[in-house]
Amino acid sequence: MKLLTVLLAGVMAVTPAVADIIRIDTPSSSLVLDARKGKKLKHIHYGGPVSDDDVASLCDALGDGVTSYPDYGMLGPAETAVSAIMPDGNRSLDLRVDGVSAGDVDGGKVTTVTLRDTAYPFSVDINYLVYPGEDVIETWADINNLDKKNSIILTRFASGYLPVRYGDVWVSHLYGSAKNEARVECAPLGHGIRMIRNRDGVRNAHTSHSEVMISLDGKPSERNGRVIGAALCYSGNYKLMFNTDQSNWHHFIAGIDEDDSEYHLDPETTFTTPRLALTYSDRGLGGVSRSFHRWGRAHKLAHGDRQRKVLLNSWEGVYFKITEKGMADMMADIASMGGELFVMDDGWFGVEYPRDNAKAGLGDWMVDRRKLPHGIRGLLDTARRNGIDFGIWIEPEMVNTASRLYREHPDWVLKPANREPVYGRGGTQLVLDLCNPAVQDFVFNIVDTLMTSYPDIDYIKWDANMNIKNHGSQYLPSDRQSHLFIDYHRGFVSVLERIRAKYPDVTIQACASGGARANWGTLPWFDEFWVSDNTDALQRVYMQWGDSYFFPAMTMASHISASPNHQTQRRIPLKYRIDVAMSGRLGMEIQPRDMTDDEKAMCRRAIAEYKTVRHVIQSGDLYRLQSPYDDKGVASLLYVTPARDEAVFFWWKTRTFFADQLPRVTMDGLDPDRRYRVTELNRIDNKPLKSEGKVYTGRFLMDTGLEIPPGHDLDKPDRVSWASRVIRLQAL
Ligand code: GLA
Repeated sequence: MKLLTVLLAGVMAVTPAVADIIRIDTPSSSLVLDARKGKKLKHIHYGGPVSDDDVASLCDALGDGVTSYPDYGMLGPAETAVSAIMPDGNRSLDLRVDGVSAGDVDGGKVTTVTLRDTAYPFSVDINYLVYPGEDVIETWADINNLDKKNSIILTRFASGYLPVRYGDVWVSHLYGSAKNEARVECAPLGHGIRMIRNRDGVRNAHTSHSEVMISLDGKPSERNGRVIGAALCYSGNYKLMFNTDQSNWHHFIAGIDEDDSEYHLDPETTFTTPRLALTYSDRGLGGVSRSFHRWGRAHKLAHGDRQRKVLLNSWEGVYFKITEKGMADMMADIASMGGELFVMDDGWFGVEYPRDNAKAGLGDWMVDRRKLPHGIRGLLDTARRNGIDFGIWIEPEMVNTASRLYREHPDWVLKPANREPVYGRGGTQLVLDLCNPAVQDFVFNIVDTLMTSYPDIDYIKWDANMNIKNHGSQYLPSDRQSHLFIDYHRGFVSVLERIRAKYPDVTIQACASGGARANWGTLPWFDEFWVSDNTDALQRVYMQWGDSYFFPAMTMASHISASPNHQTQRRIPLKYRIDVAMSGRLGMEIQPRDMTDDEKAMCRRAIAEYKTVRHVIQSGDLYRLQSPYDDKGVASLLYVTPARDEAVFFWWKTRTFFADQLPRVTMDGLDPDRRYRVTELNRIDNKPLKSEGKVYTGRFLMDTGLEIPPGHDLDKPDRVSWASRVIRLQAL
């Protein structure tokens, strides 16, 4: 077998068409495929970097190898990535390598292997786009119906297939529900099928997330061991499946969930799957997270290089009770605390059907002048007078039946023909049919009208509070109803593309009843996501921990809210609430009028201190040090700049037991030979920490760690059983 290097760290080395072995290398990983023309594409290796000699040995050892991107019909009972029904009813495929090419896509080098069917005009281009700087490879398939006259039906269309060598393999993924998003679960892969999927239709991250960590060396560790990270970049229904059969492999297949979604591919058209991003690290879960964060900030996220502002959002402060005076007071309050942005949440719109609660108004995006006599212009003027920016809430994909929009366009909602719809929030909410281009125009126009009328709007909170309960499009023809789930998201993306083409600067938050749109298929058009409608600081430690597996801190909207917390009724001191919110994109979700002067002063100081370290938190490398899920009574993490000259250490108690023994947390990611000065932020104690102002080597902080007292040194009336610390480290 010829052994030729096609692509090394993103650089073309030889003529690809003659290559048998394809290598896609990043500094910490190699993906190796056997692409002999006329044969099945074979998977040889994905993991740590390998030499050409290693590849030769691997090829010898593997013999026939495993088919990469397996096709249904001639491979027996194997799990398959693609299947189709041909015009004559033939359900089998036999895809063989036809050629390999190379090109440039999205600022990276892409290698494409073309597989062609032996009997039908059908081909699949498997793409591997490499981001060497971030150690990430994105793979996806372009599935081509080359028939000039006939349609075919795709019944399976995975983004990627990855065989993982059988062993002590563990999978970590995020599961959850509304107000309890992004919980971490981690379990070994046993025999049989393990399926992670979401069929919400609109918001795909409330329950399971479409990202996984695959640990190859037994129970995962944050700091050590080989881990593959996989993130399906798709906003709609997905399916991640592991089949551990009697072969030597755990077969991992990821893509759009094909259930109820068979797709008719017209003559001479292509179905492009979402991308599956892969990364590999031998530095444990943390290594994978850091690569995803860097890749996300550099190549996926809207404005991944821009610092996020400190904001106040009106929701938990006033809920639907929007008034001009109330908004003005909140703006003055957040400005006085050093905030930079105010966001008016739900409740501002609806004229015939005022949005006084969740039952009415969605779809009628006109200002309710009873509540806001001077309209949005008045609010923008108030914001300007306060020296802050202004943002606004919308839920553009939705409608209430109590709305003018529904009266005029009842055919714009998703519902099956001949059936009464099942309603969502408020008993009247329905999802608009984004498969319909007229609806896409409508949704685009909501943003376009706001932004052309008020170009100084700085921020949009884009919400989505319902799933697709009613499978039926009044737009799609009867023989294309199975396109609904997919075309909805194609419509969604096309609207977002138009918005971003015209309004590249505006900040947009993805909210979906909380954190249900935390996904790399959504974030390219959004700056951040609302982690959860649950703002309880303790529960947020667990949720933000989970999200941090795949998403950088700058994406996580994390707000200081009231005590007792509105969702859990838990009472948590302000210091702790601040210290948790500061570990993400800091904001407030509270009625400032209900705060004491001391509390406001504390927030003012915290915001000022956050501004001095937010570049580290928002753009630094994350090291998770002590997991709340390990139940040791403390959770801790650290952000460090790429130059390792500044770091911010977070430490939160996760329970309040008397005489509890807490482990000392050792740090990570610092330069062992540099000396760092310790400064505590958000200090409340009578006496400073023993380490305050002192200088320690990175080696000491990583080997031994700082001793953190289990409580705060406070006078009696202020004593609390919670404790938390934020410590700034500055290299001398
Ligand atoms: C959803 C969001 C909240 C808030 C409300 C408004 O629940 O997650 O943050 O915006 O809608 O109705």
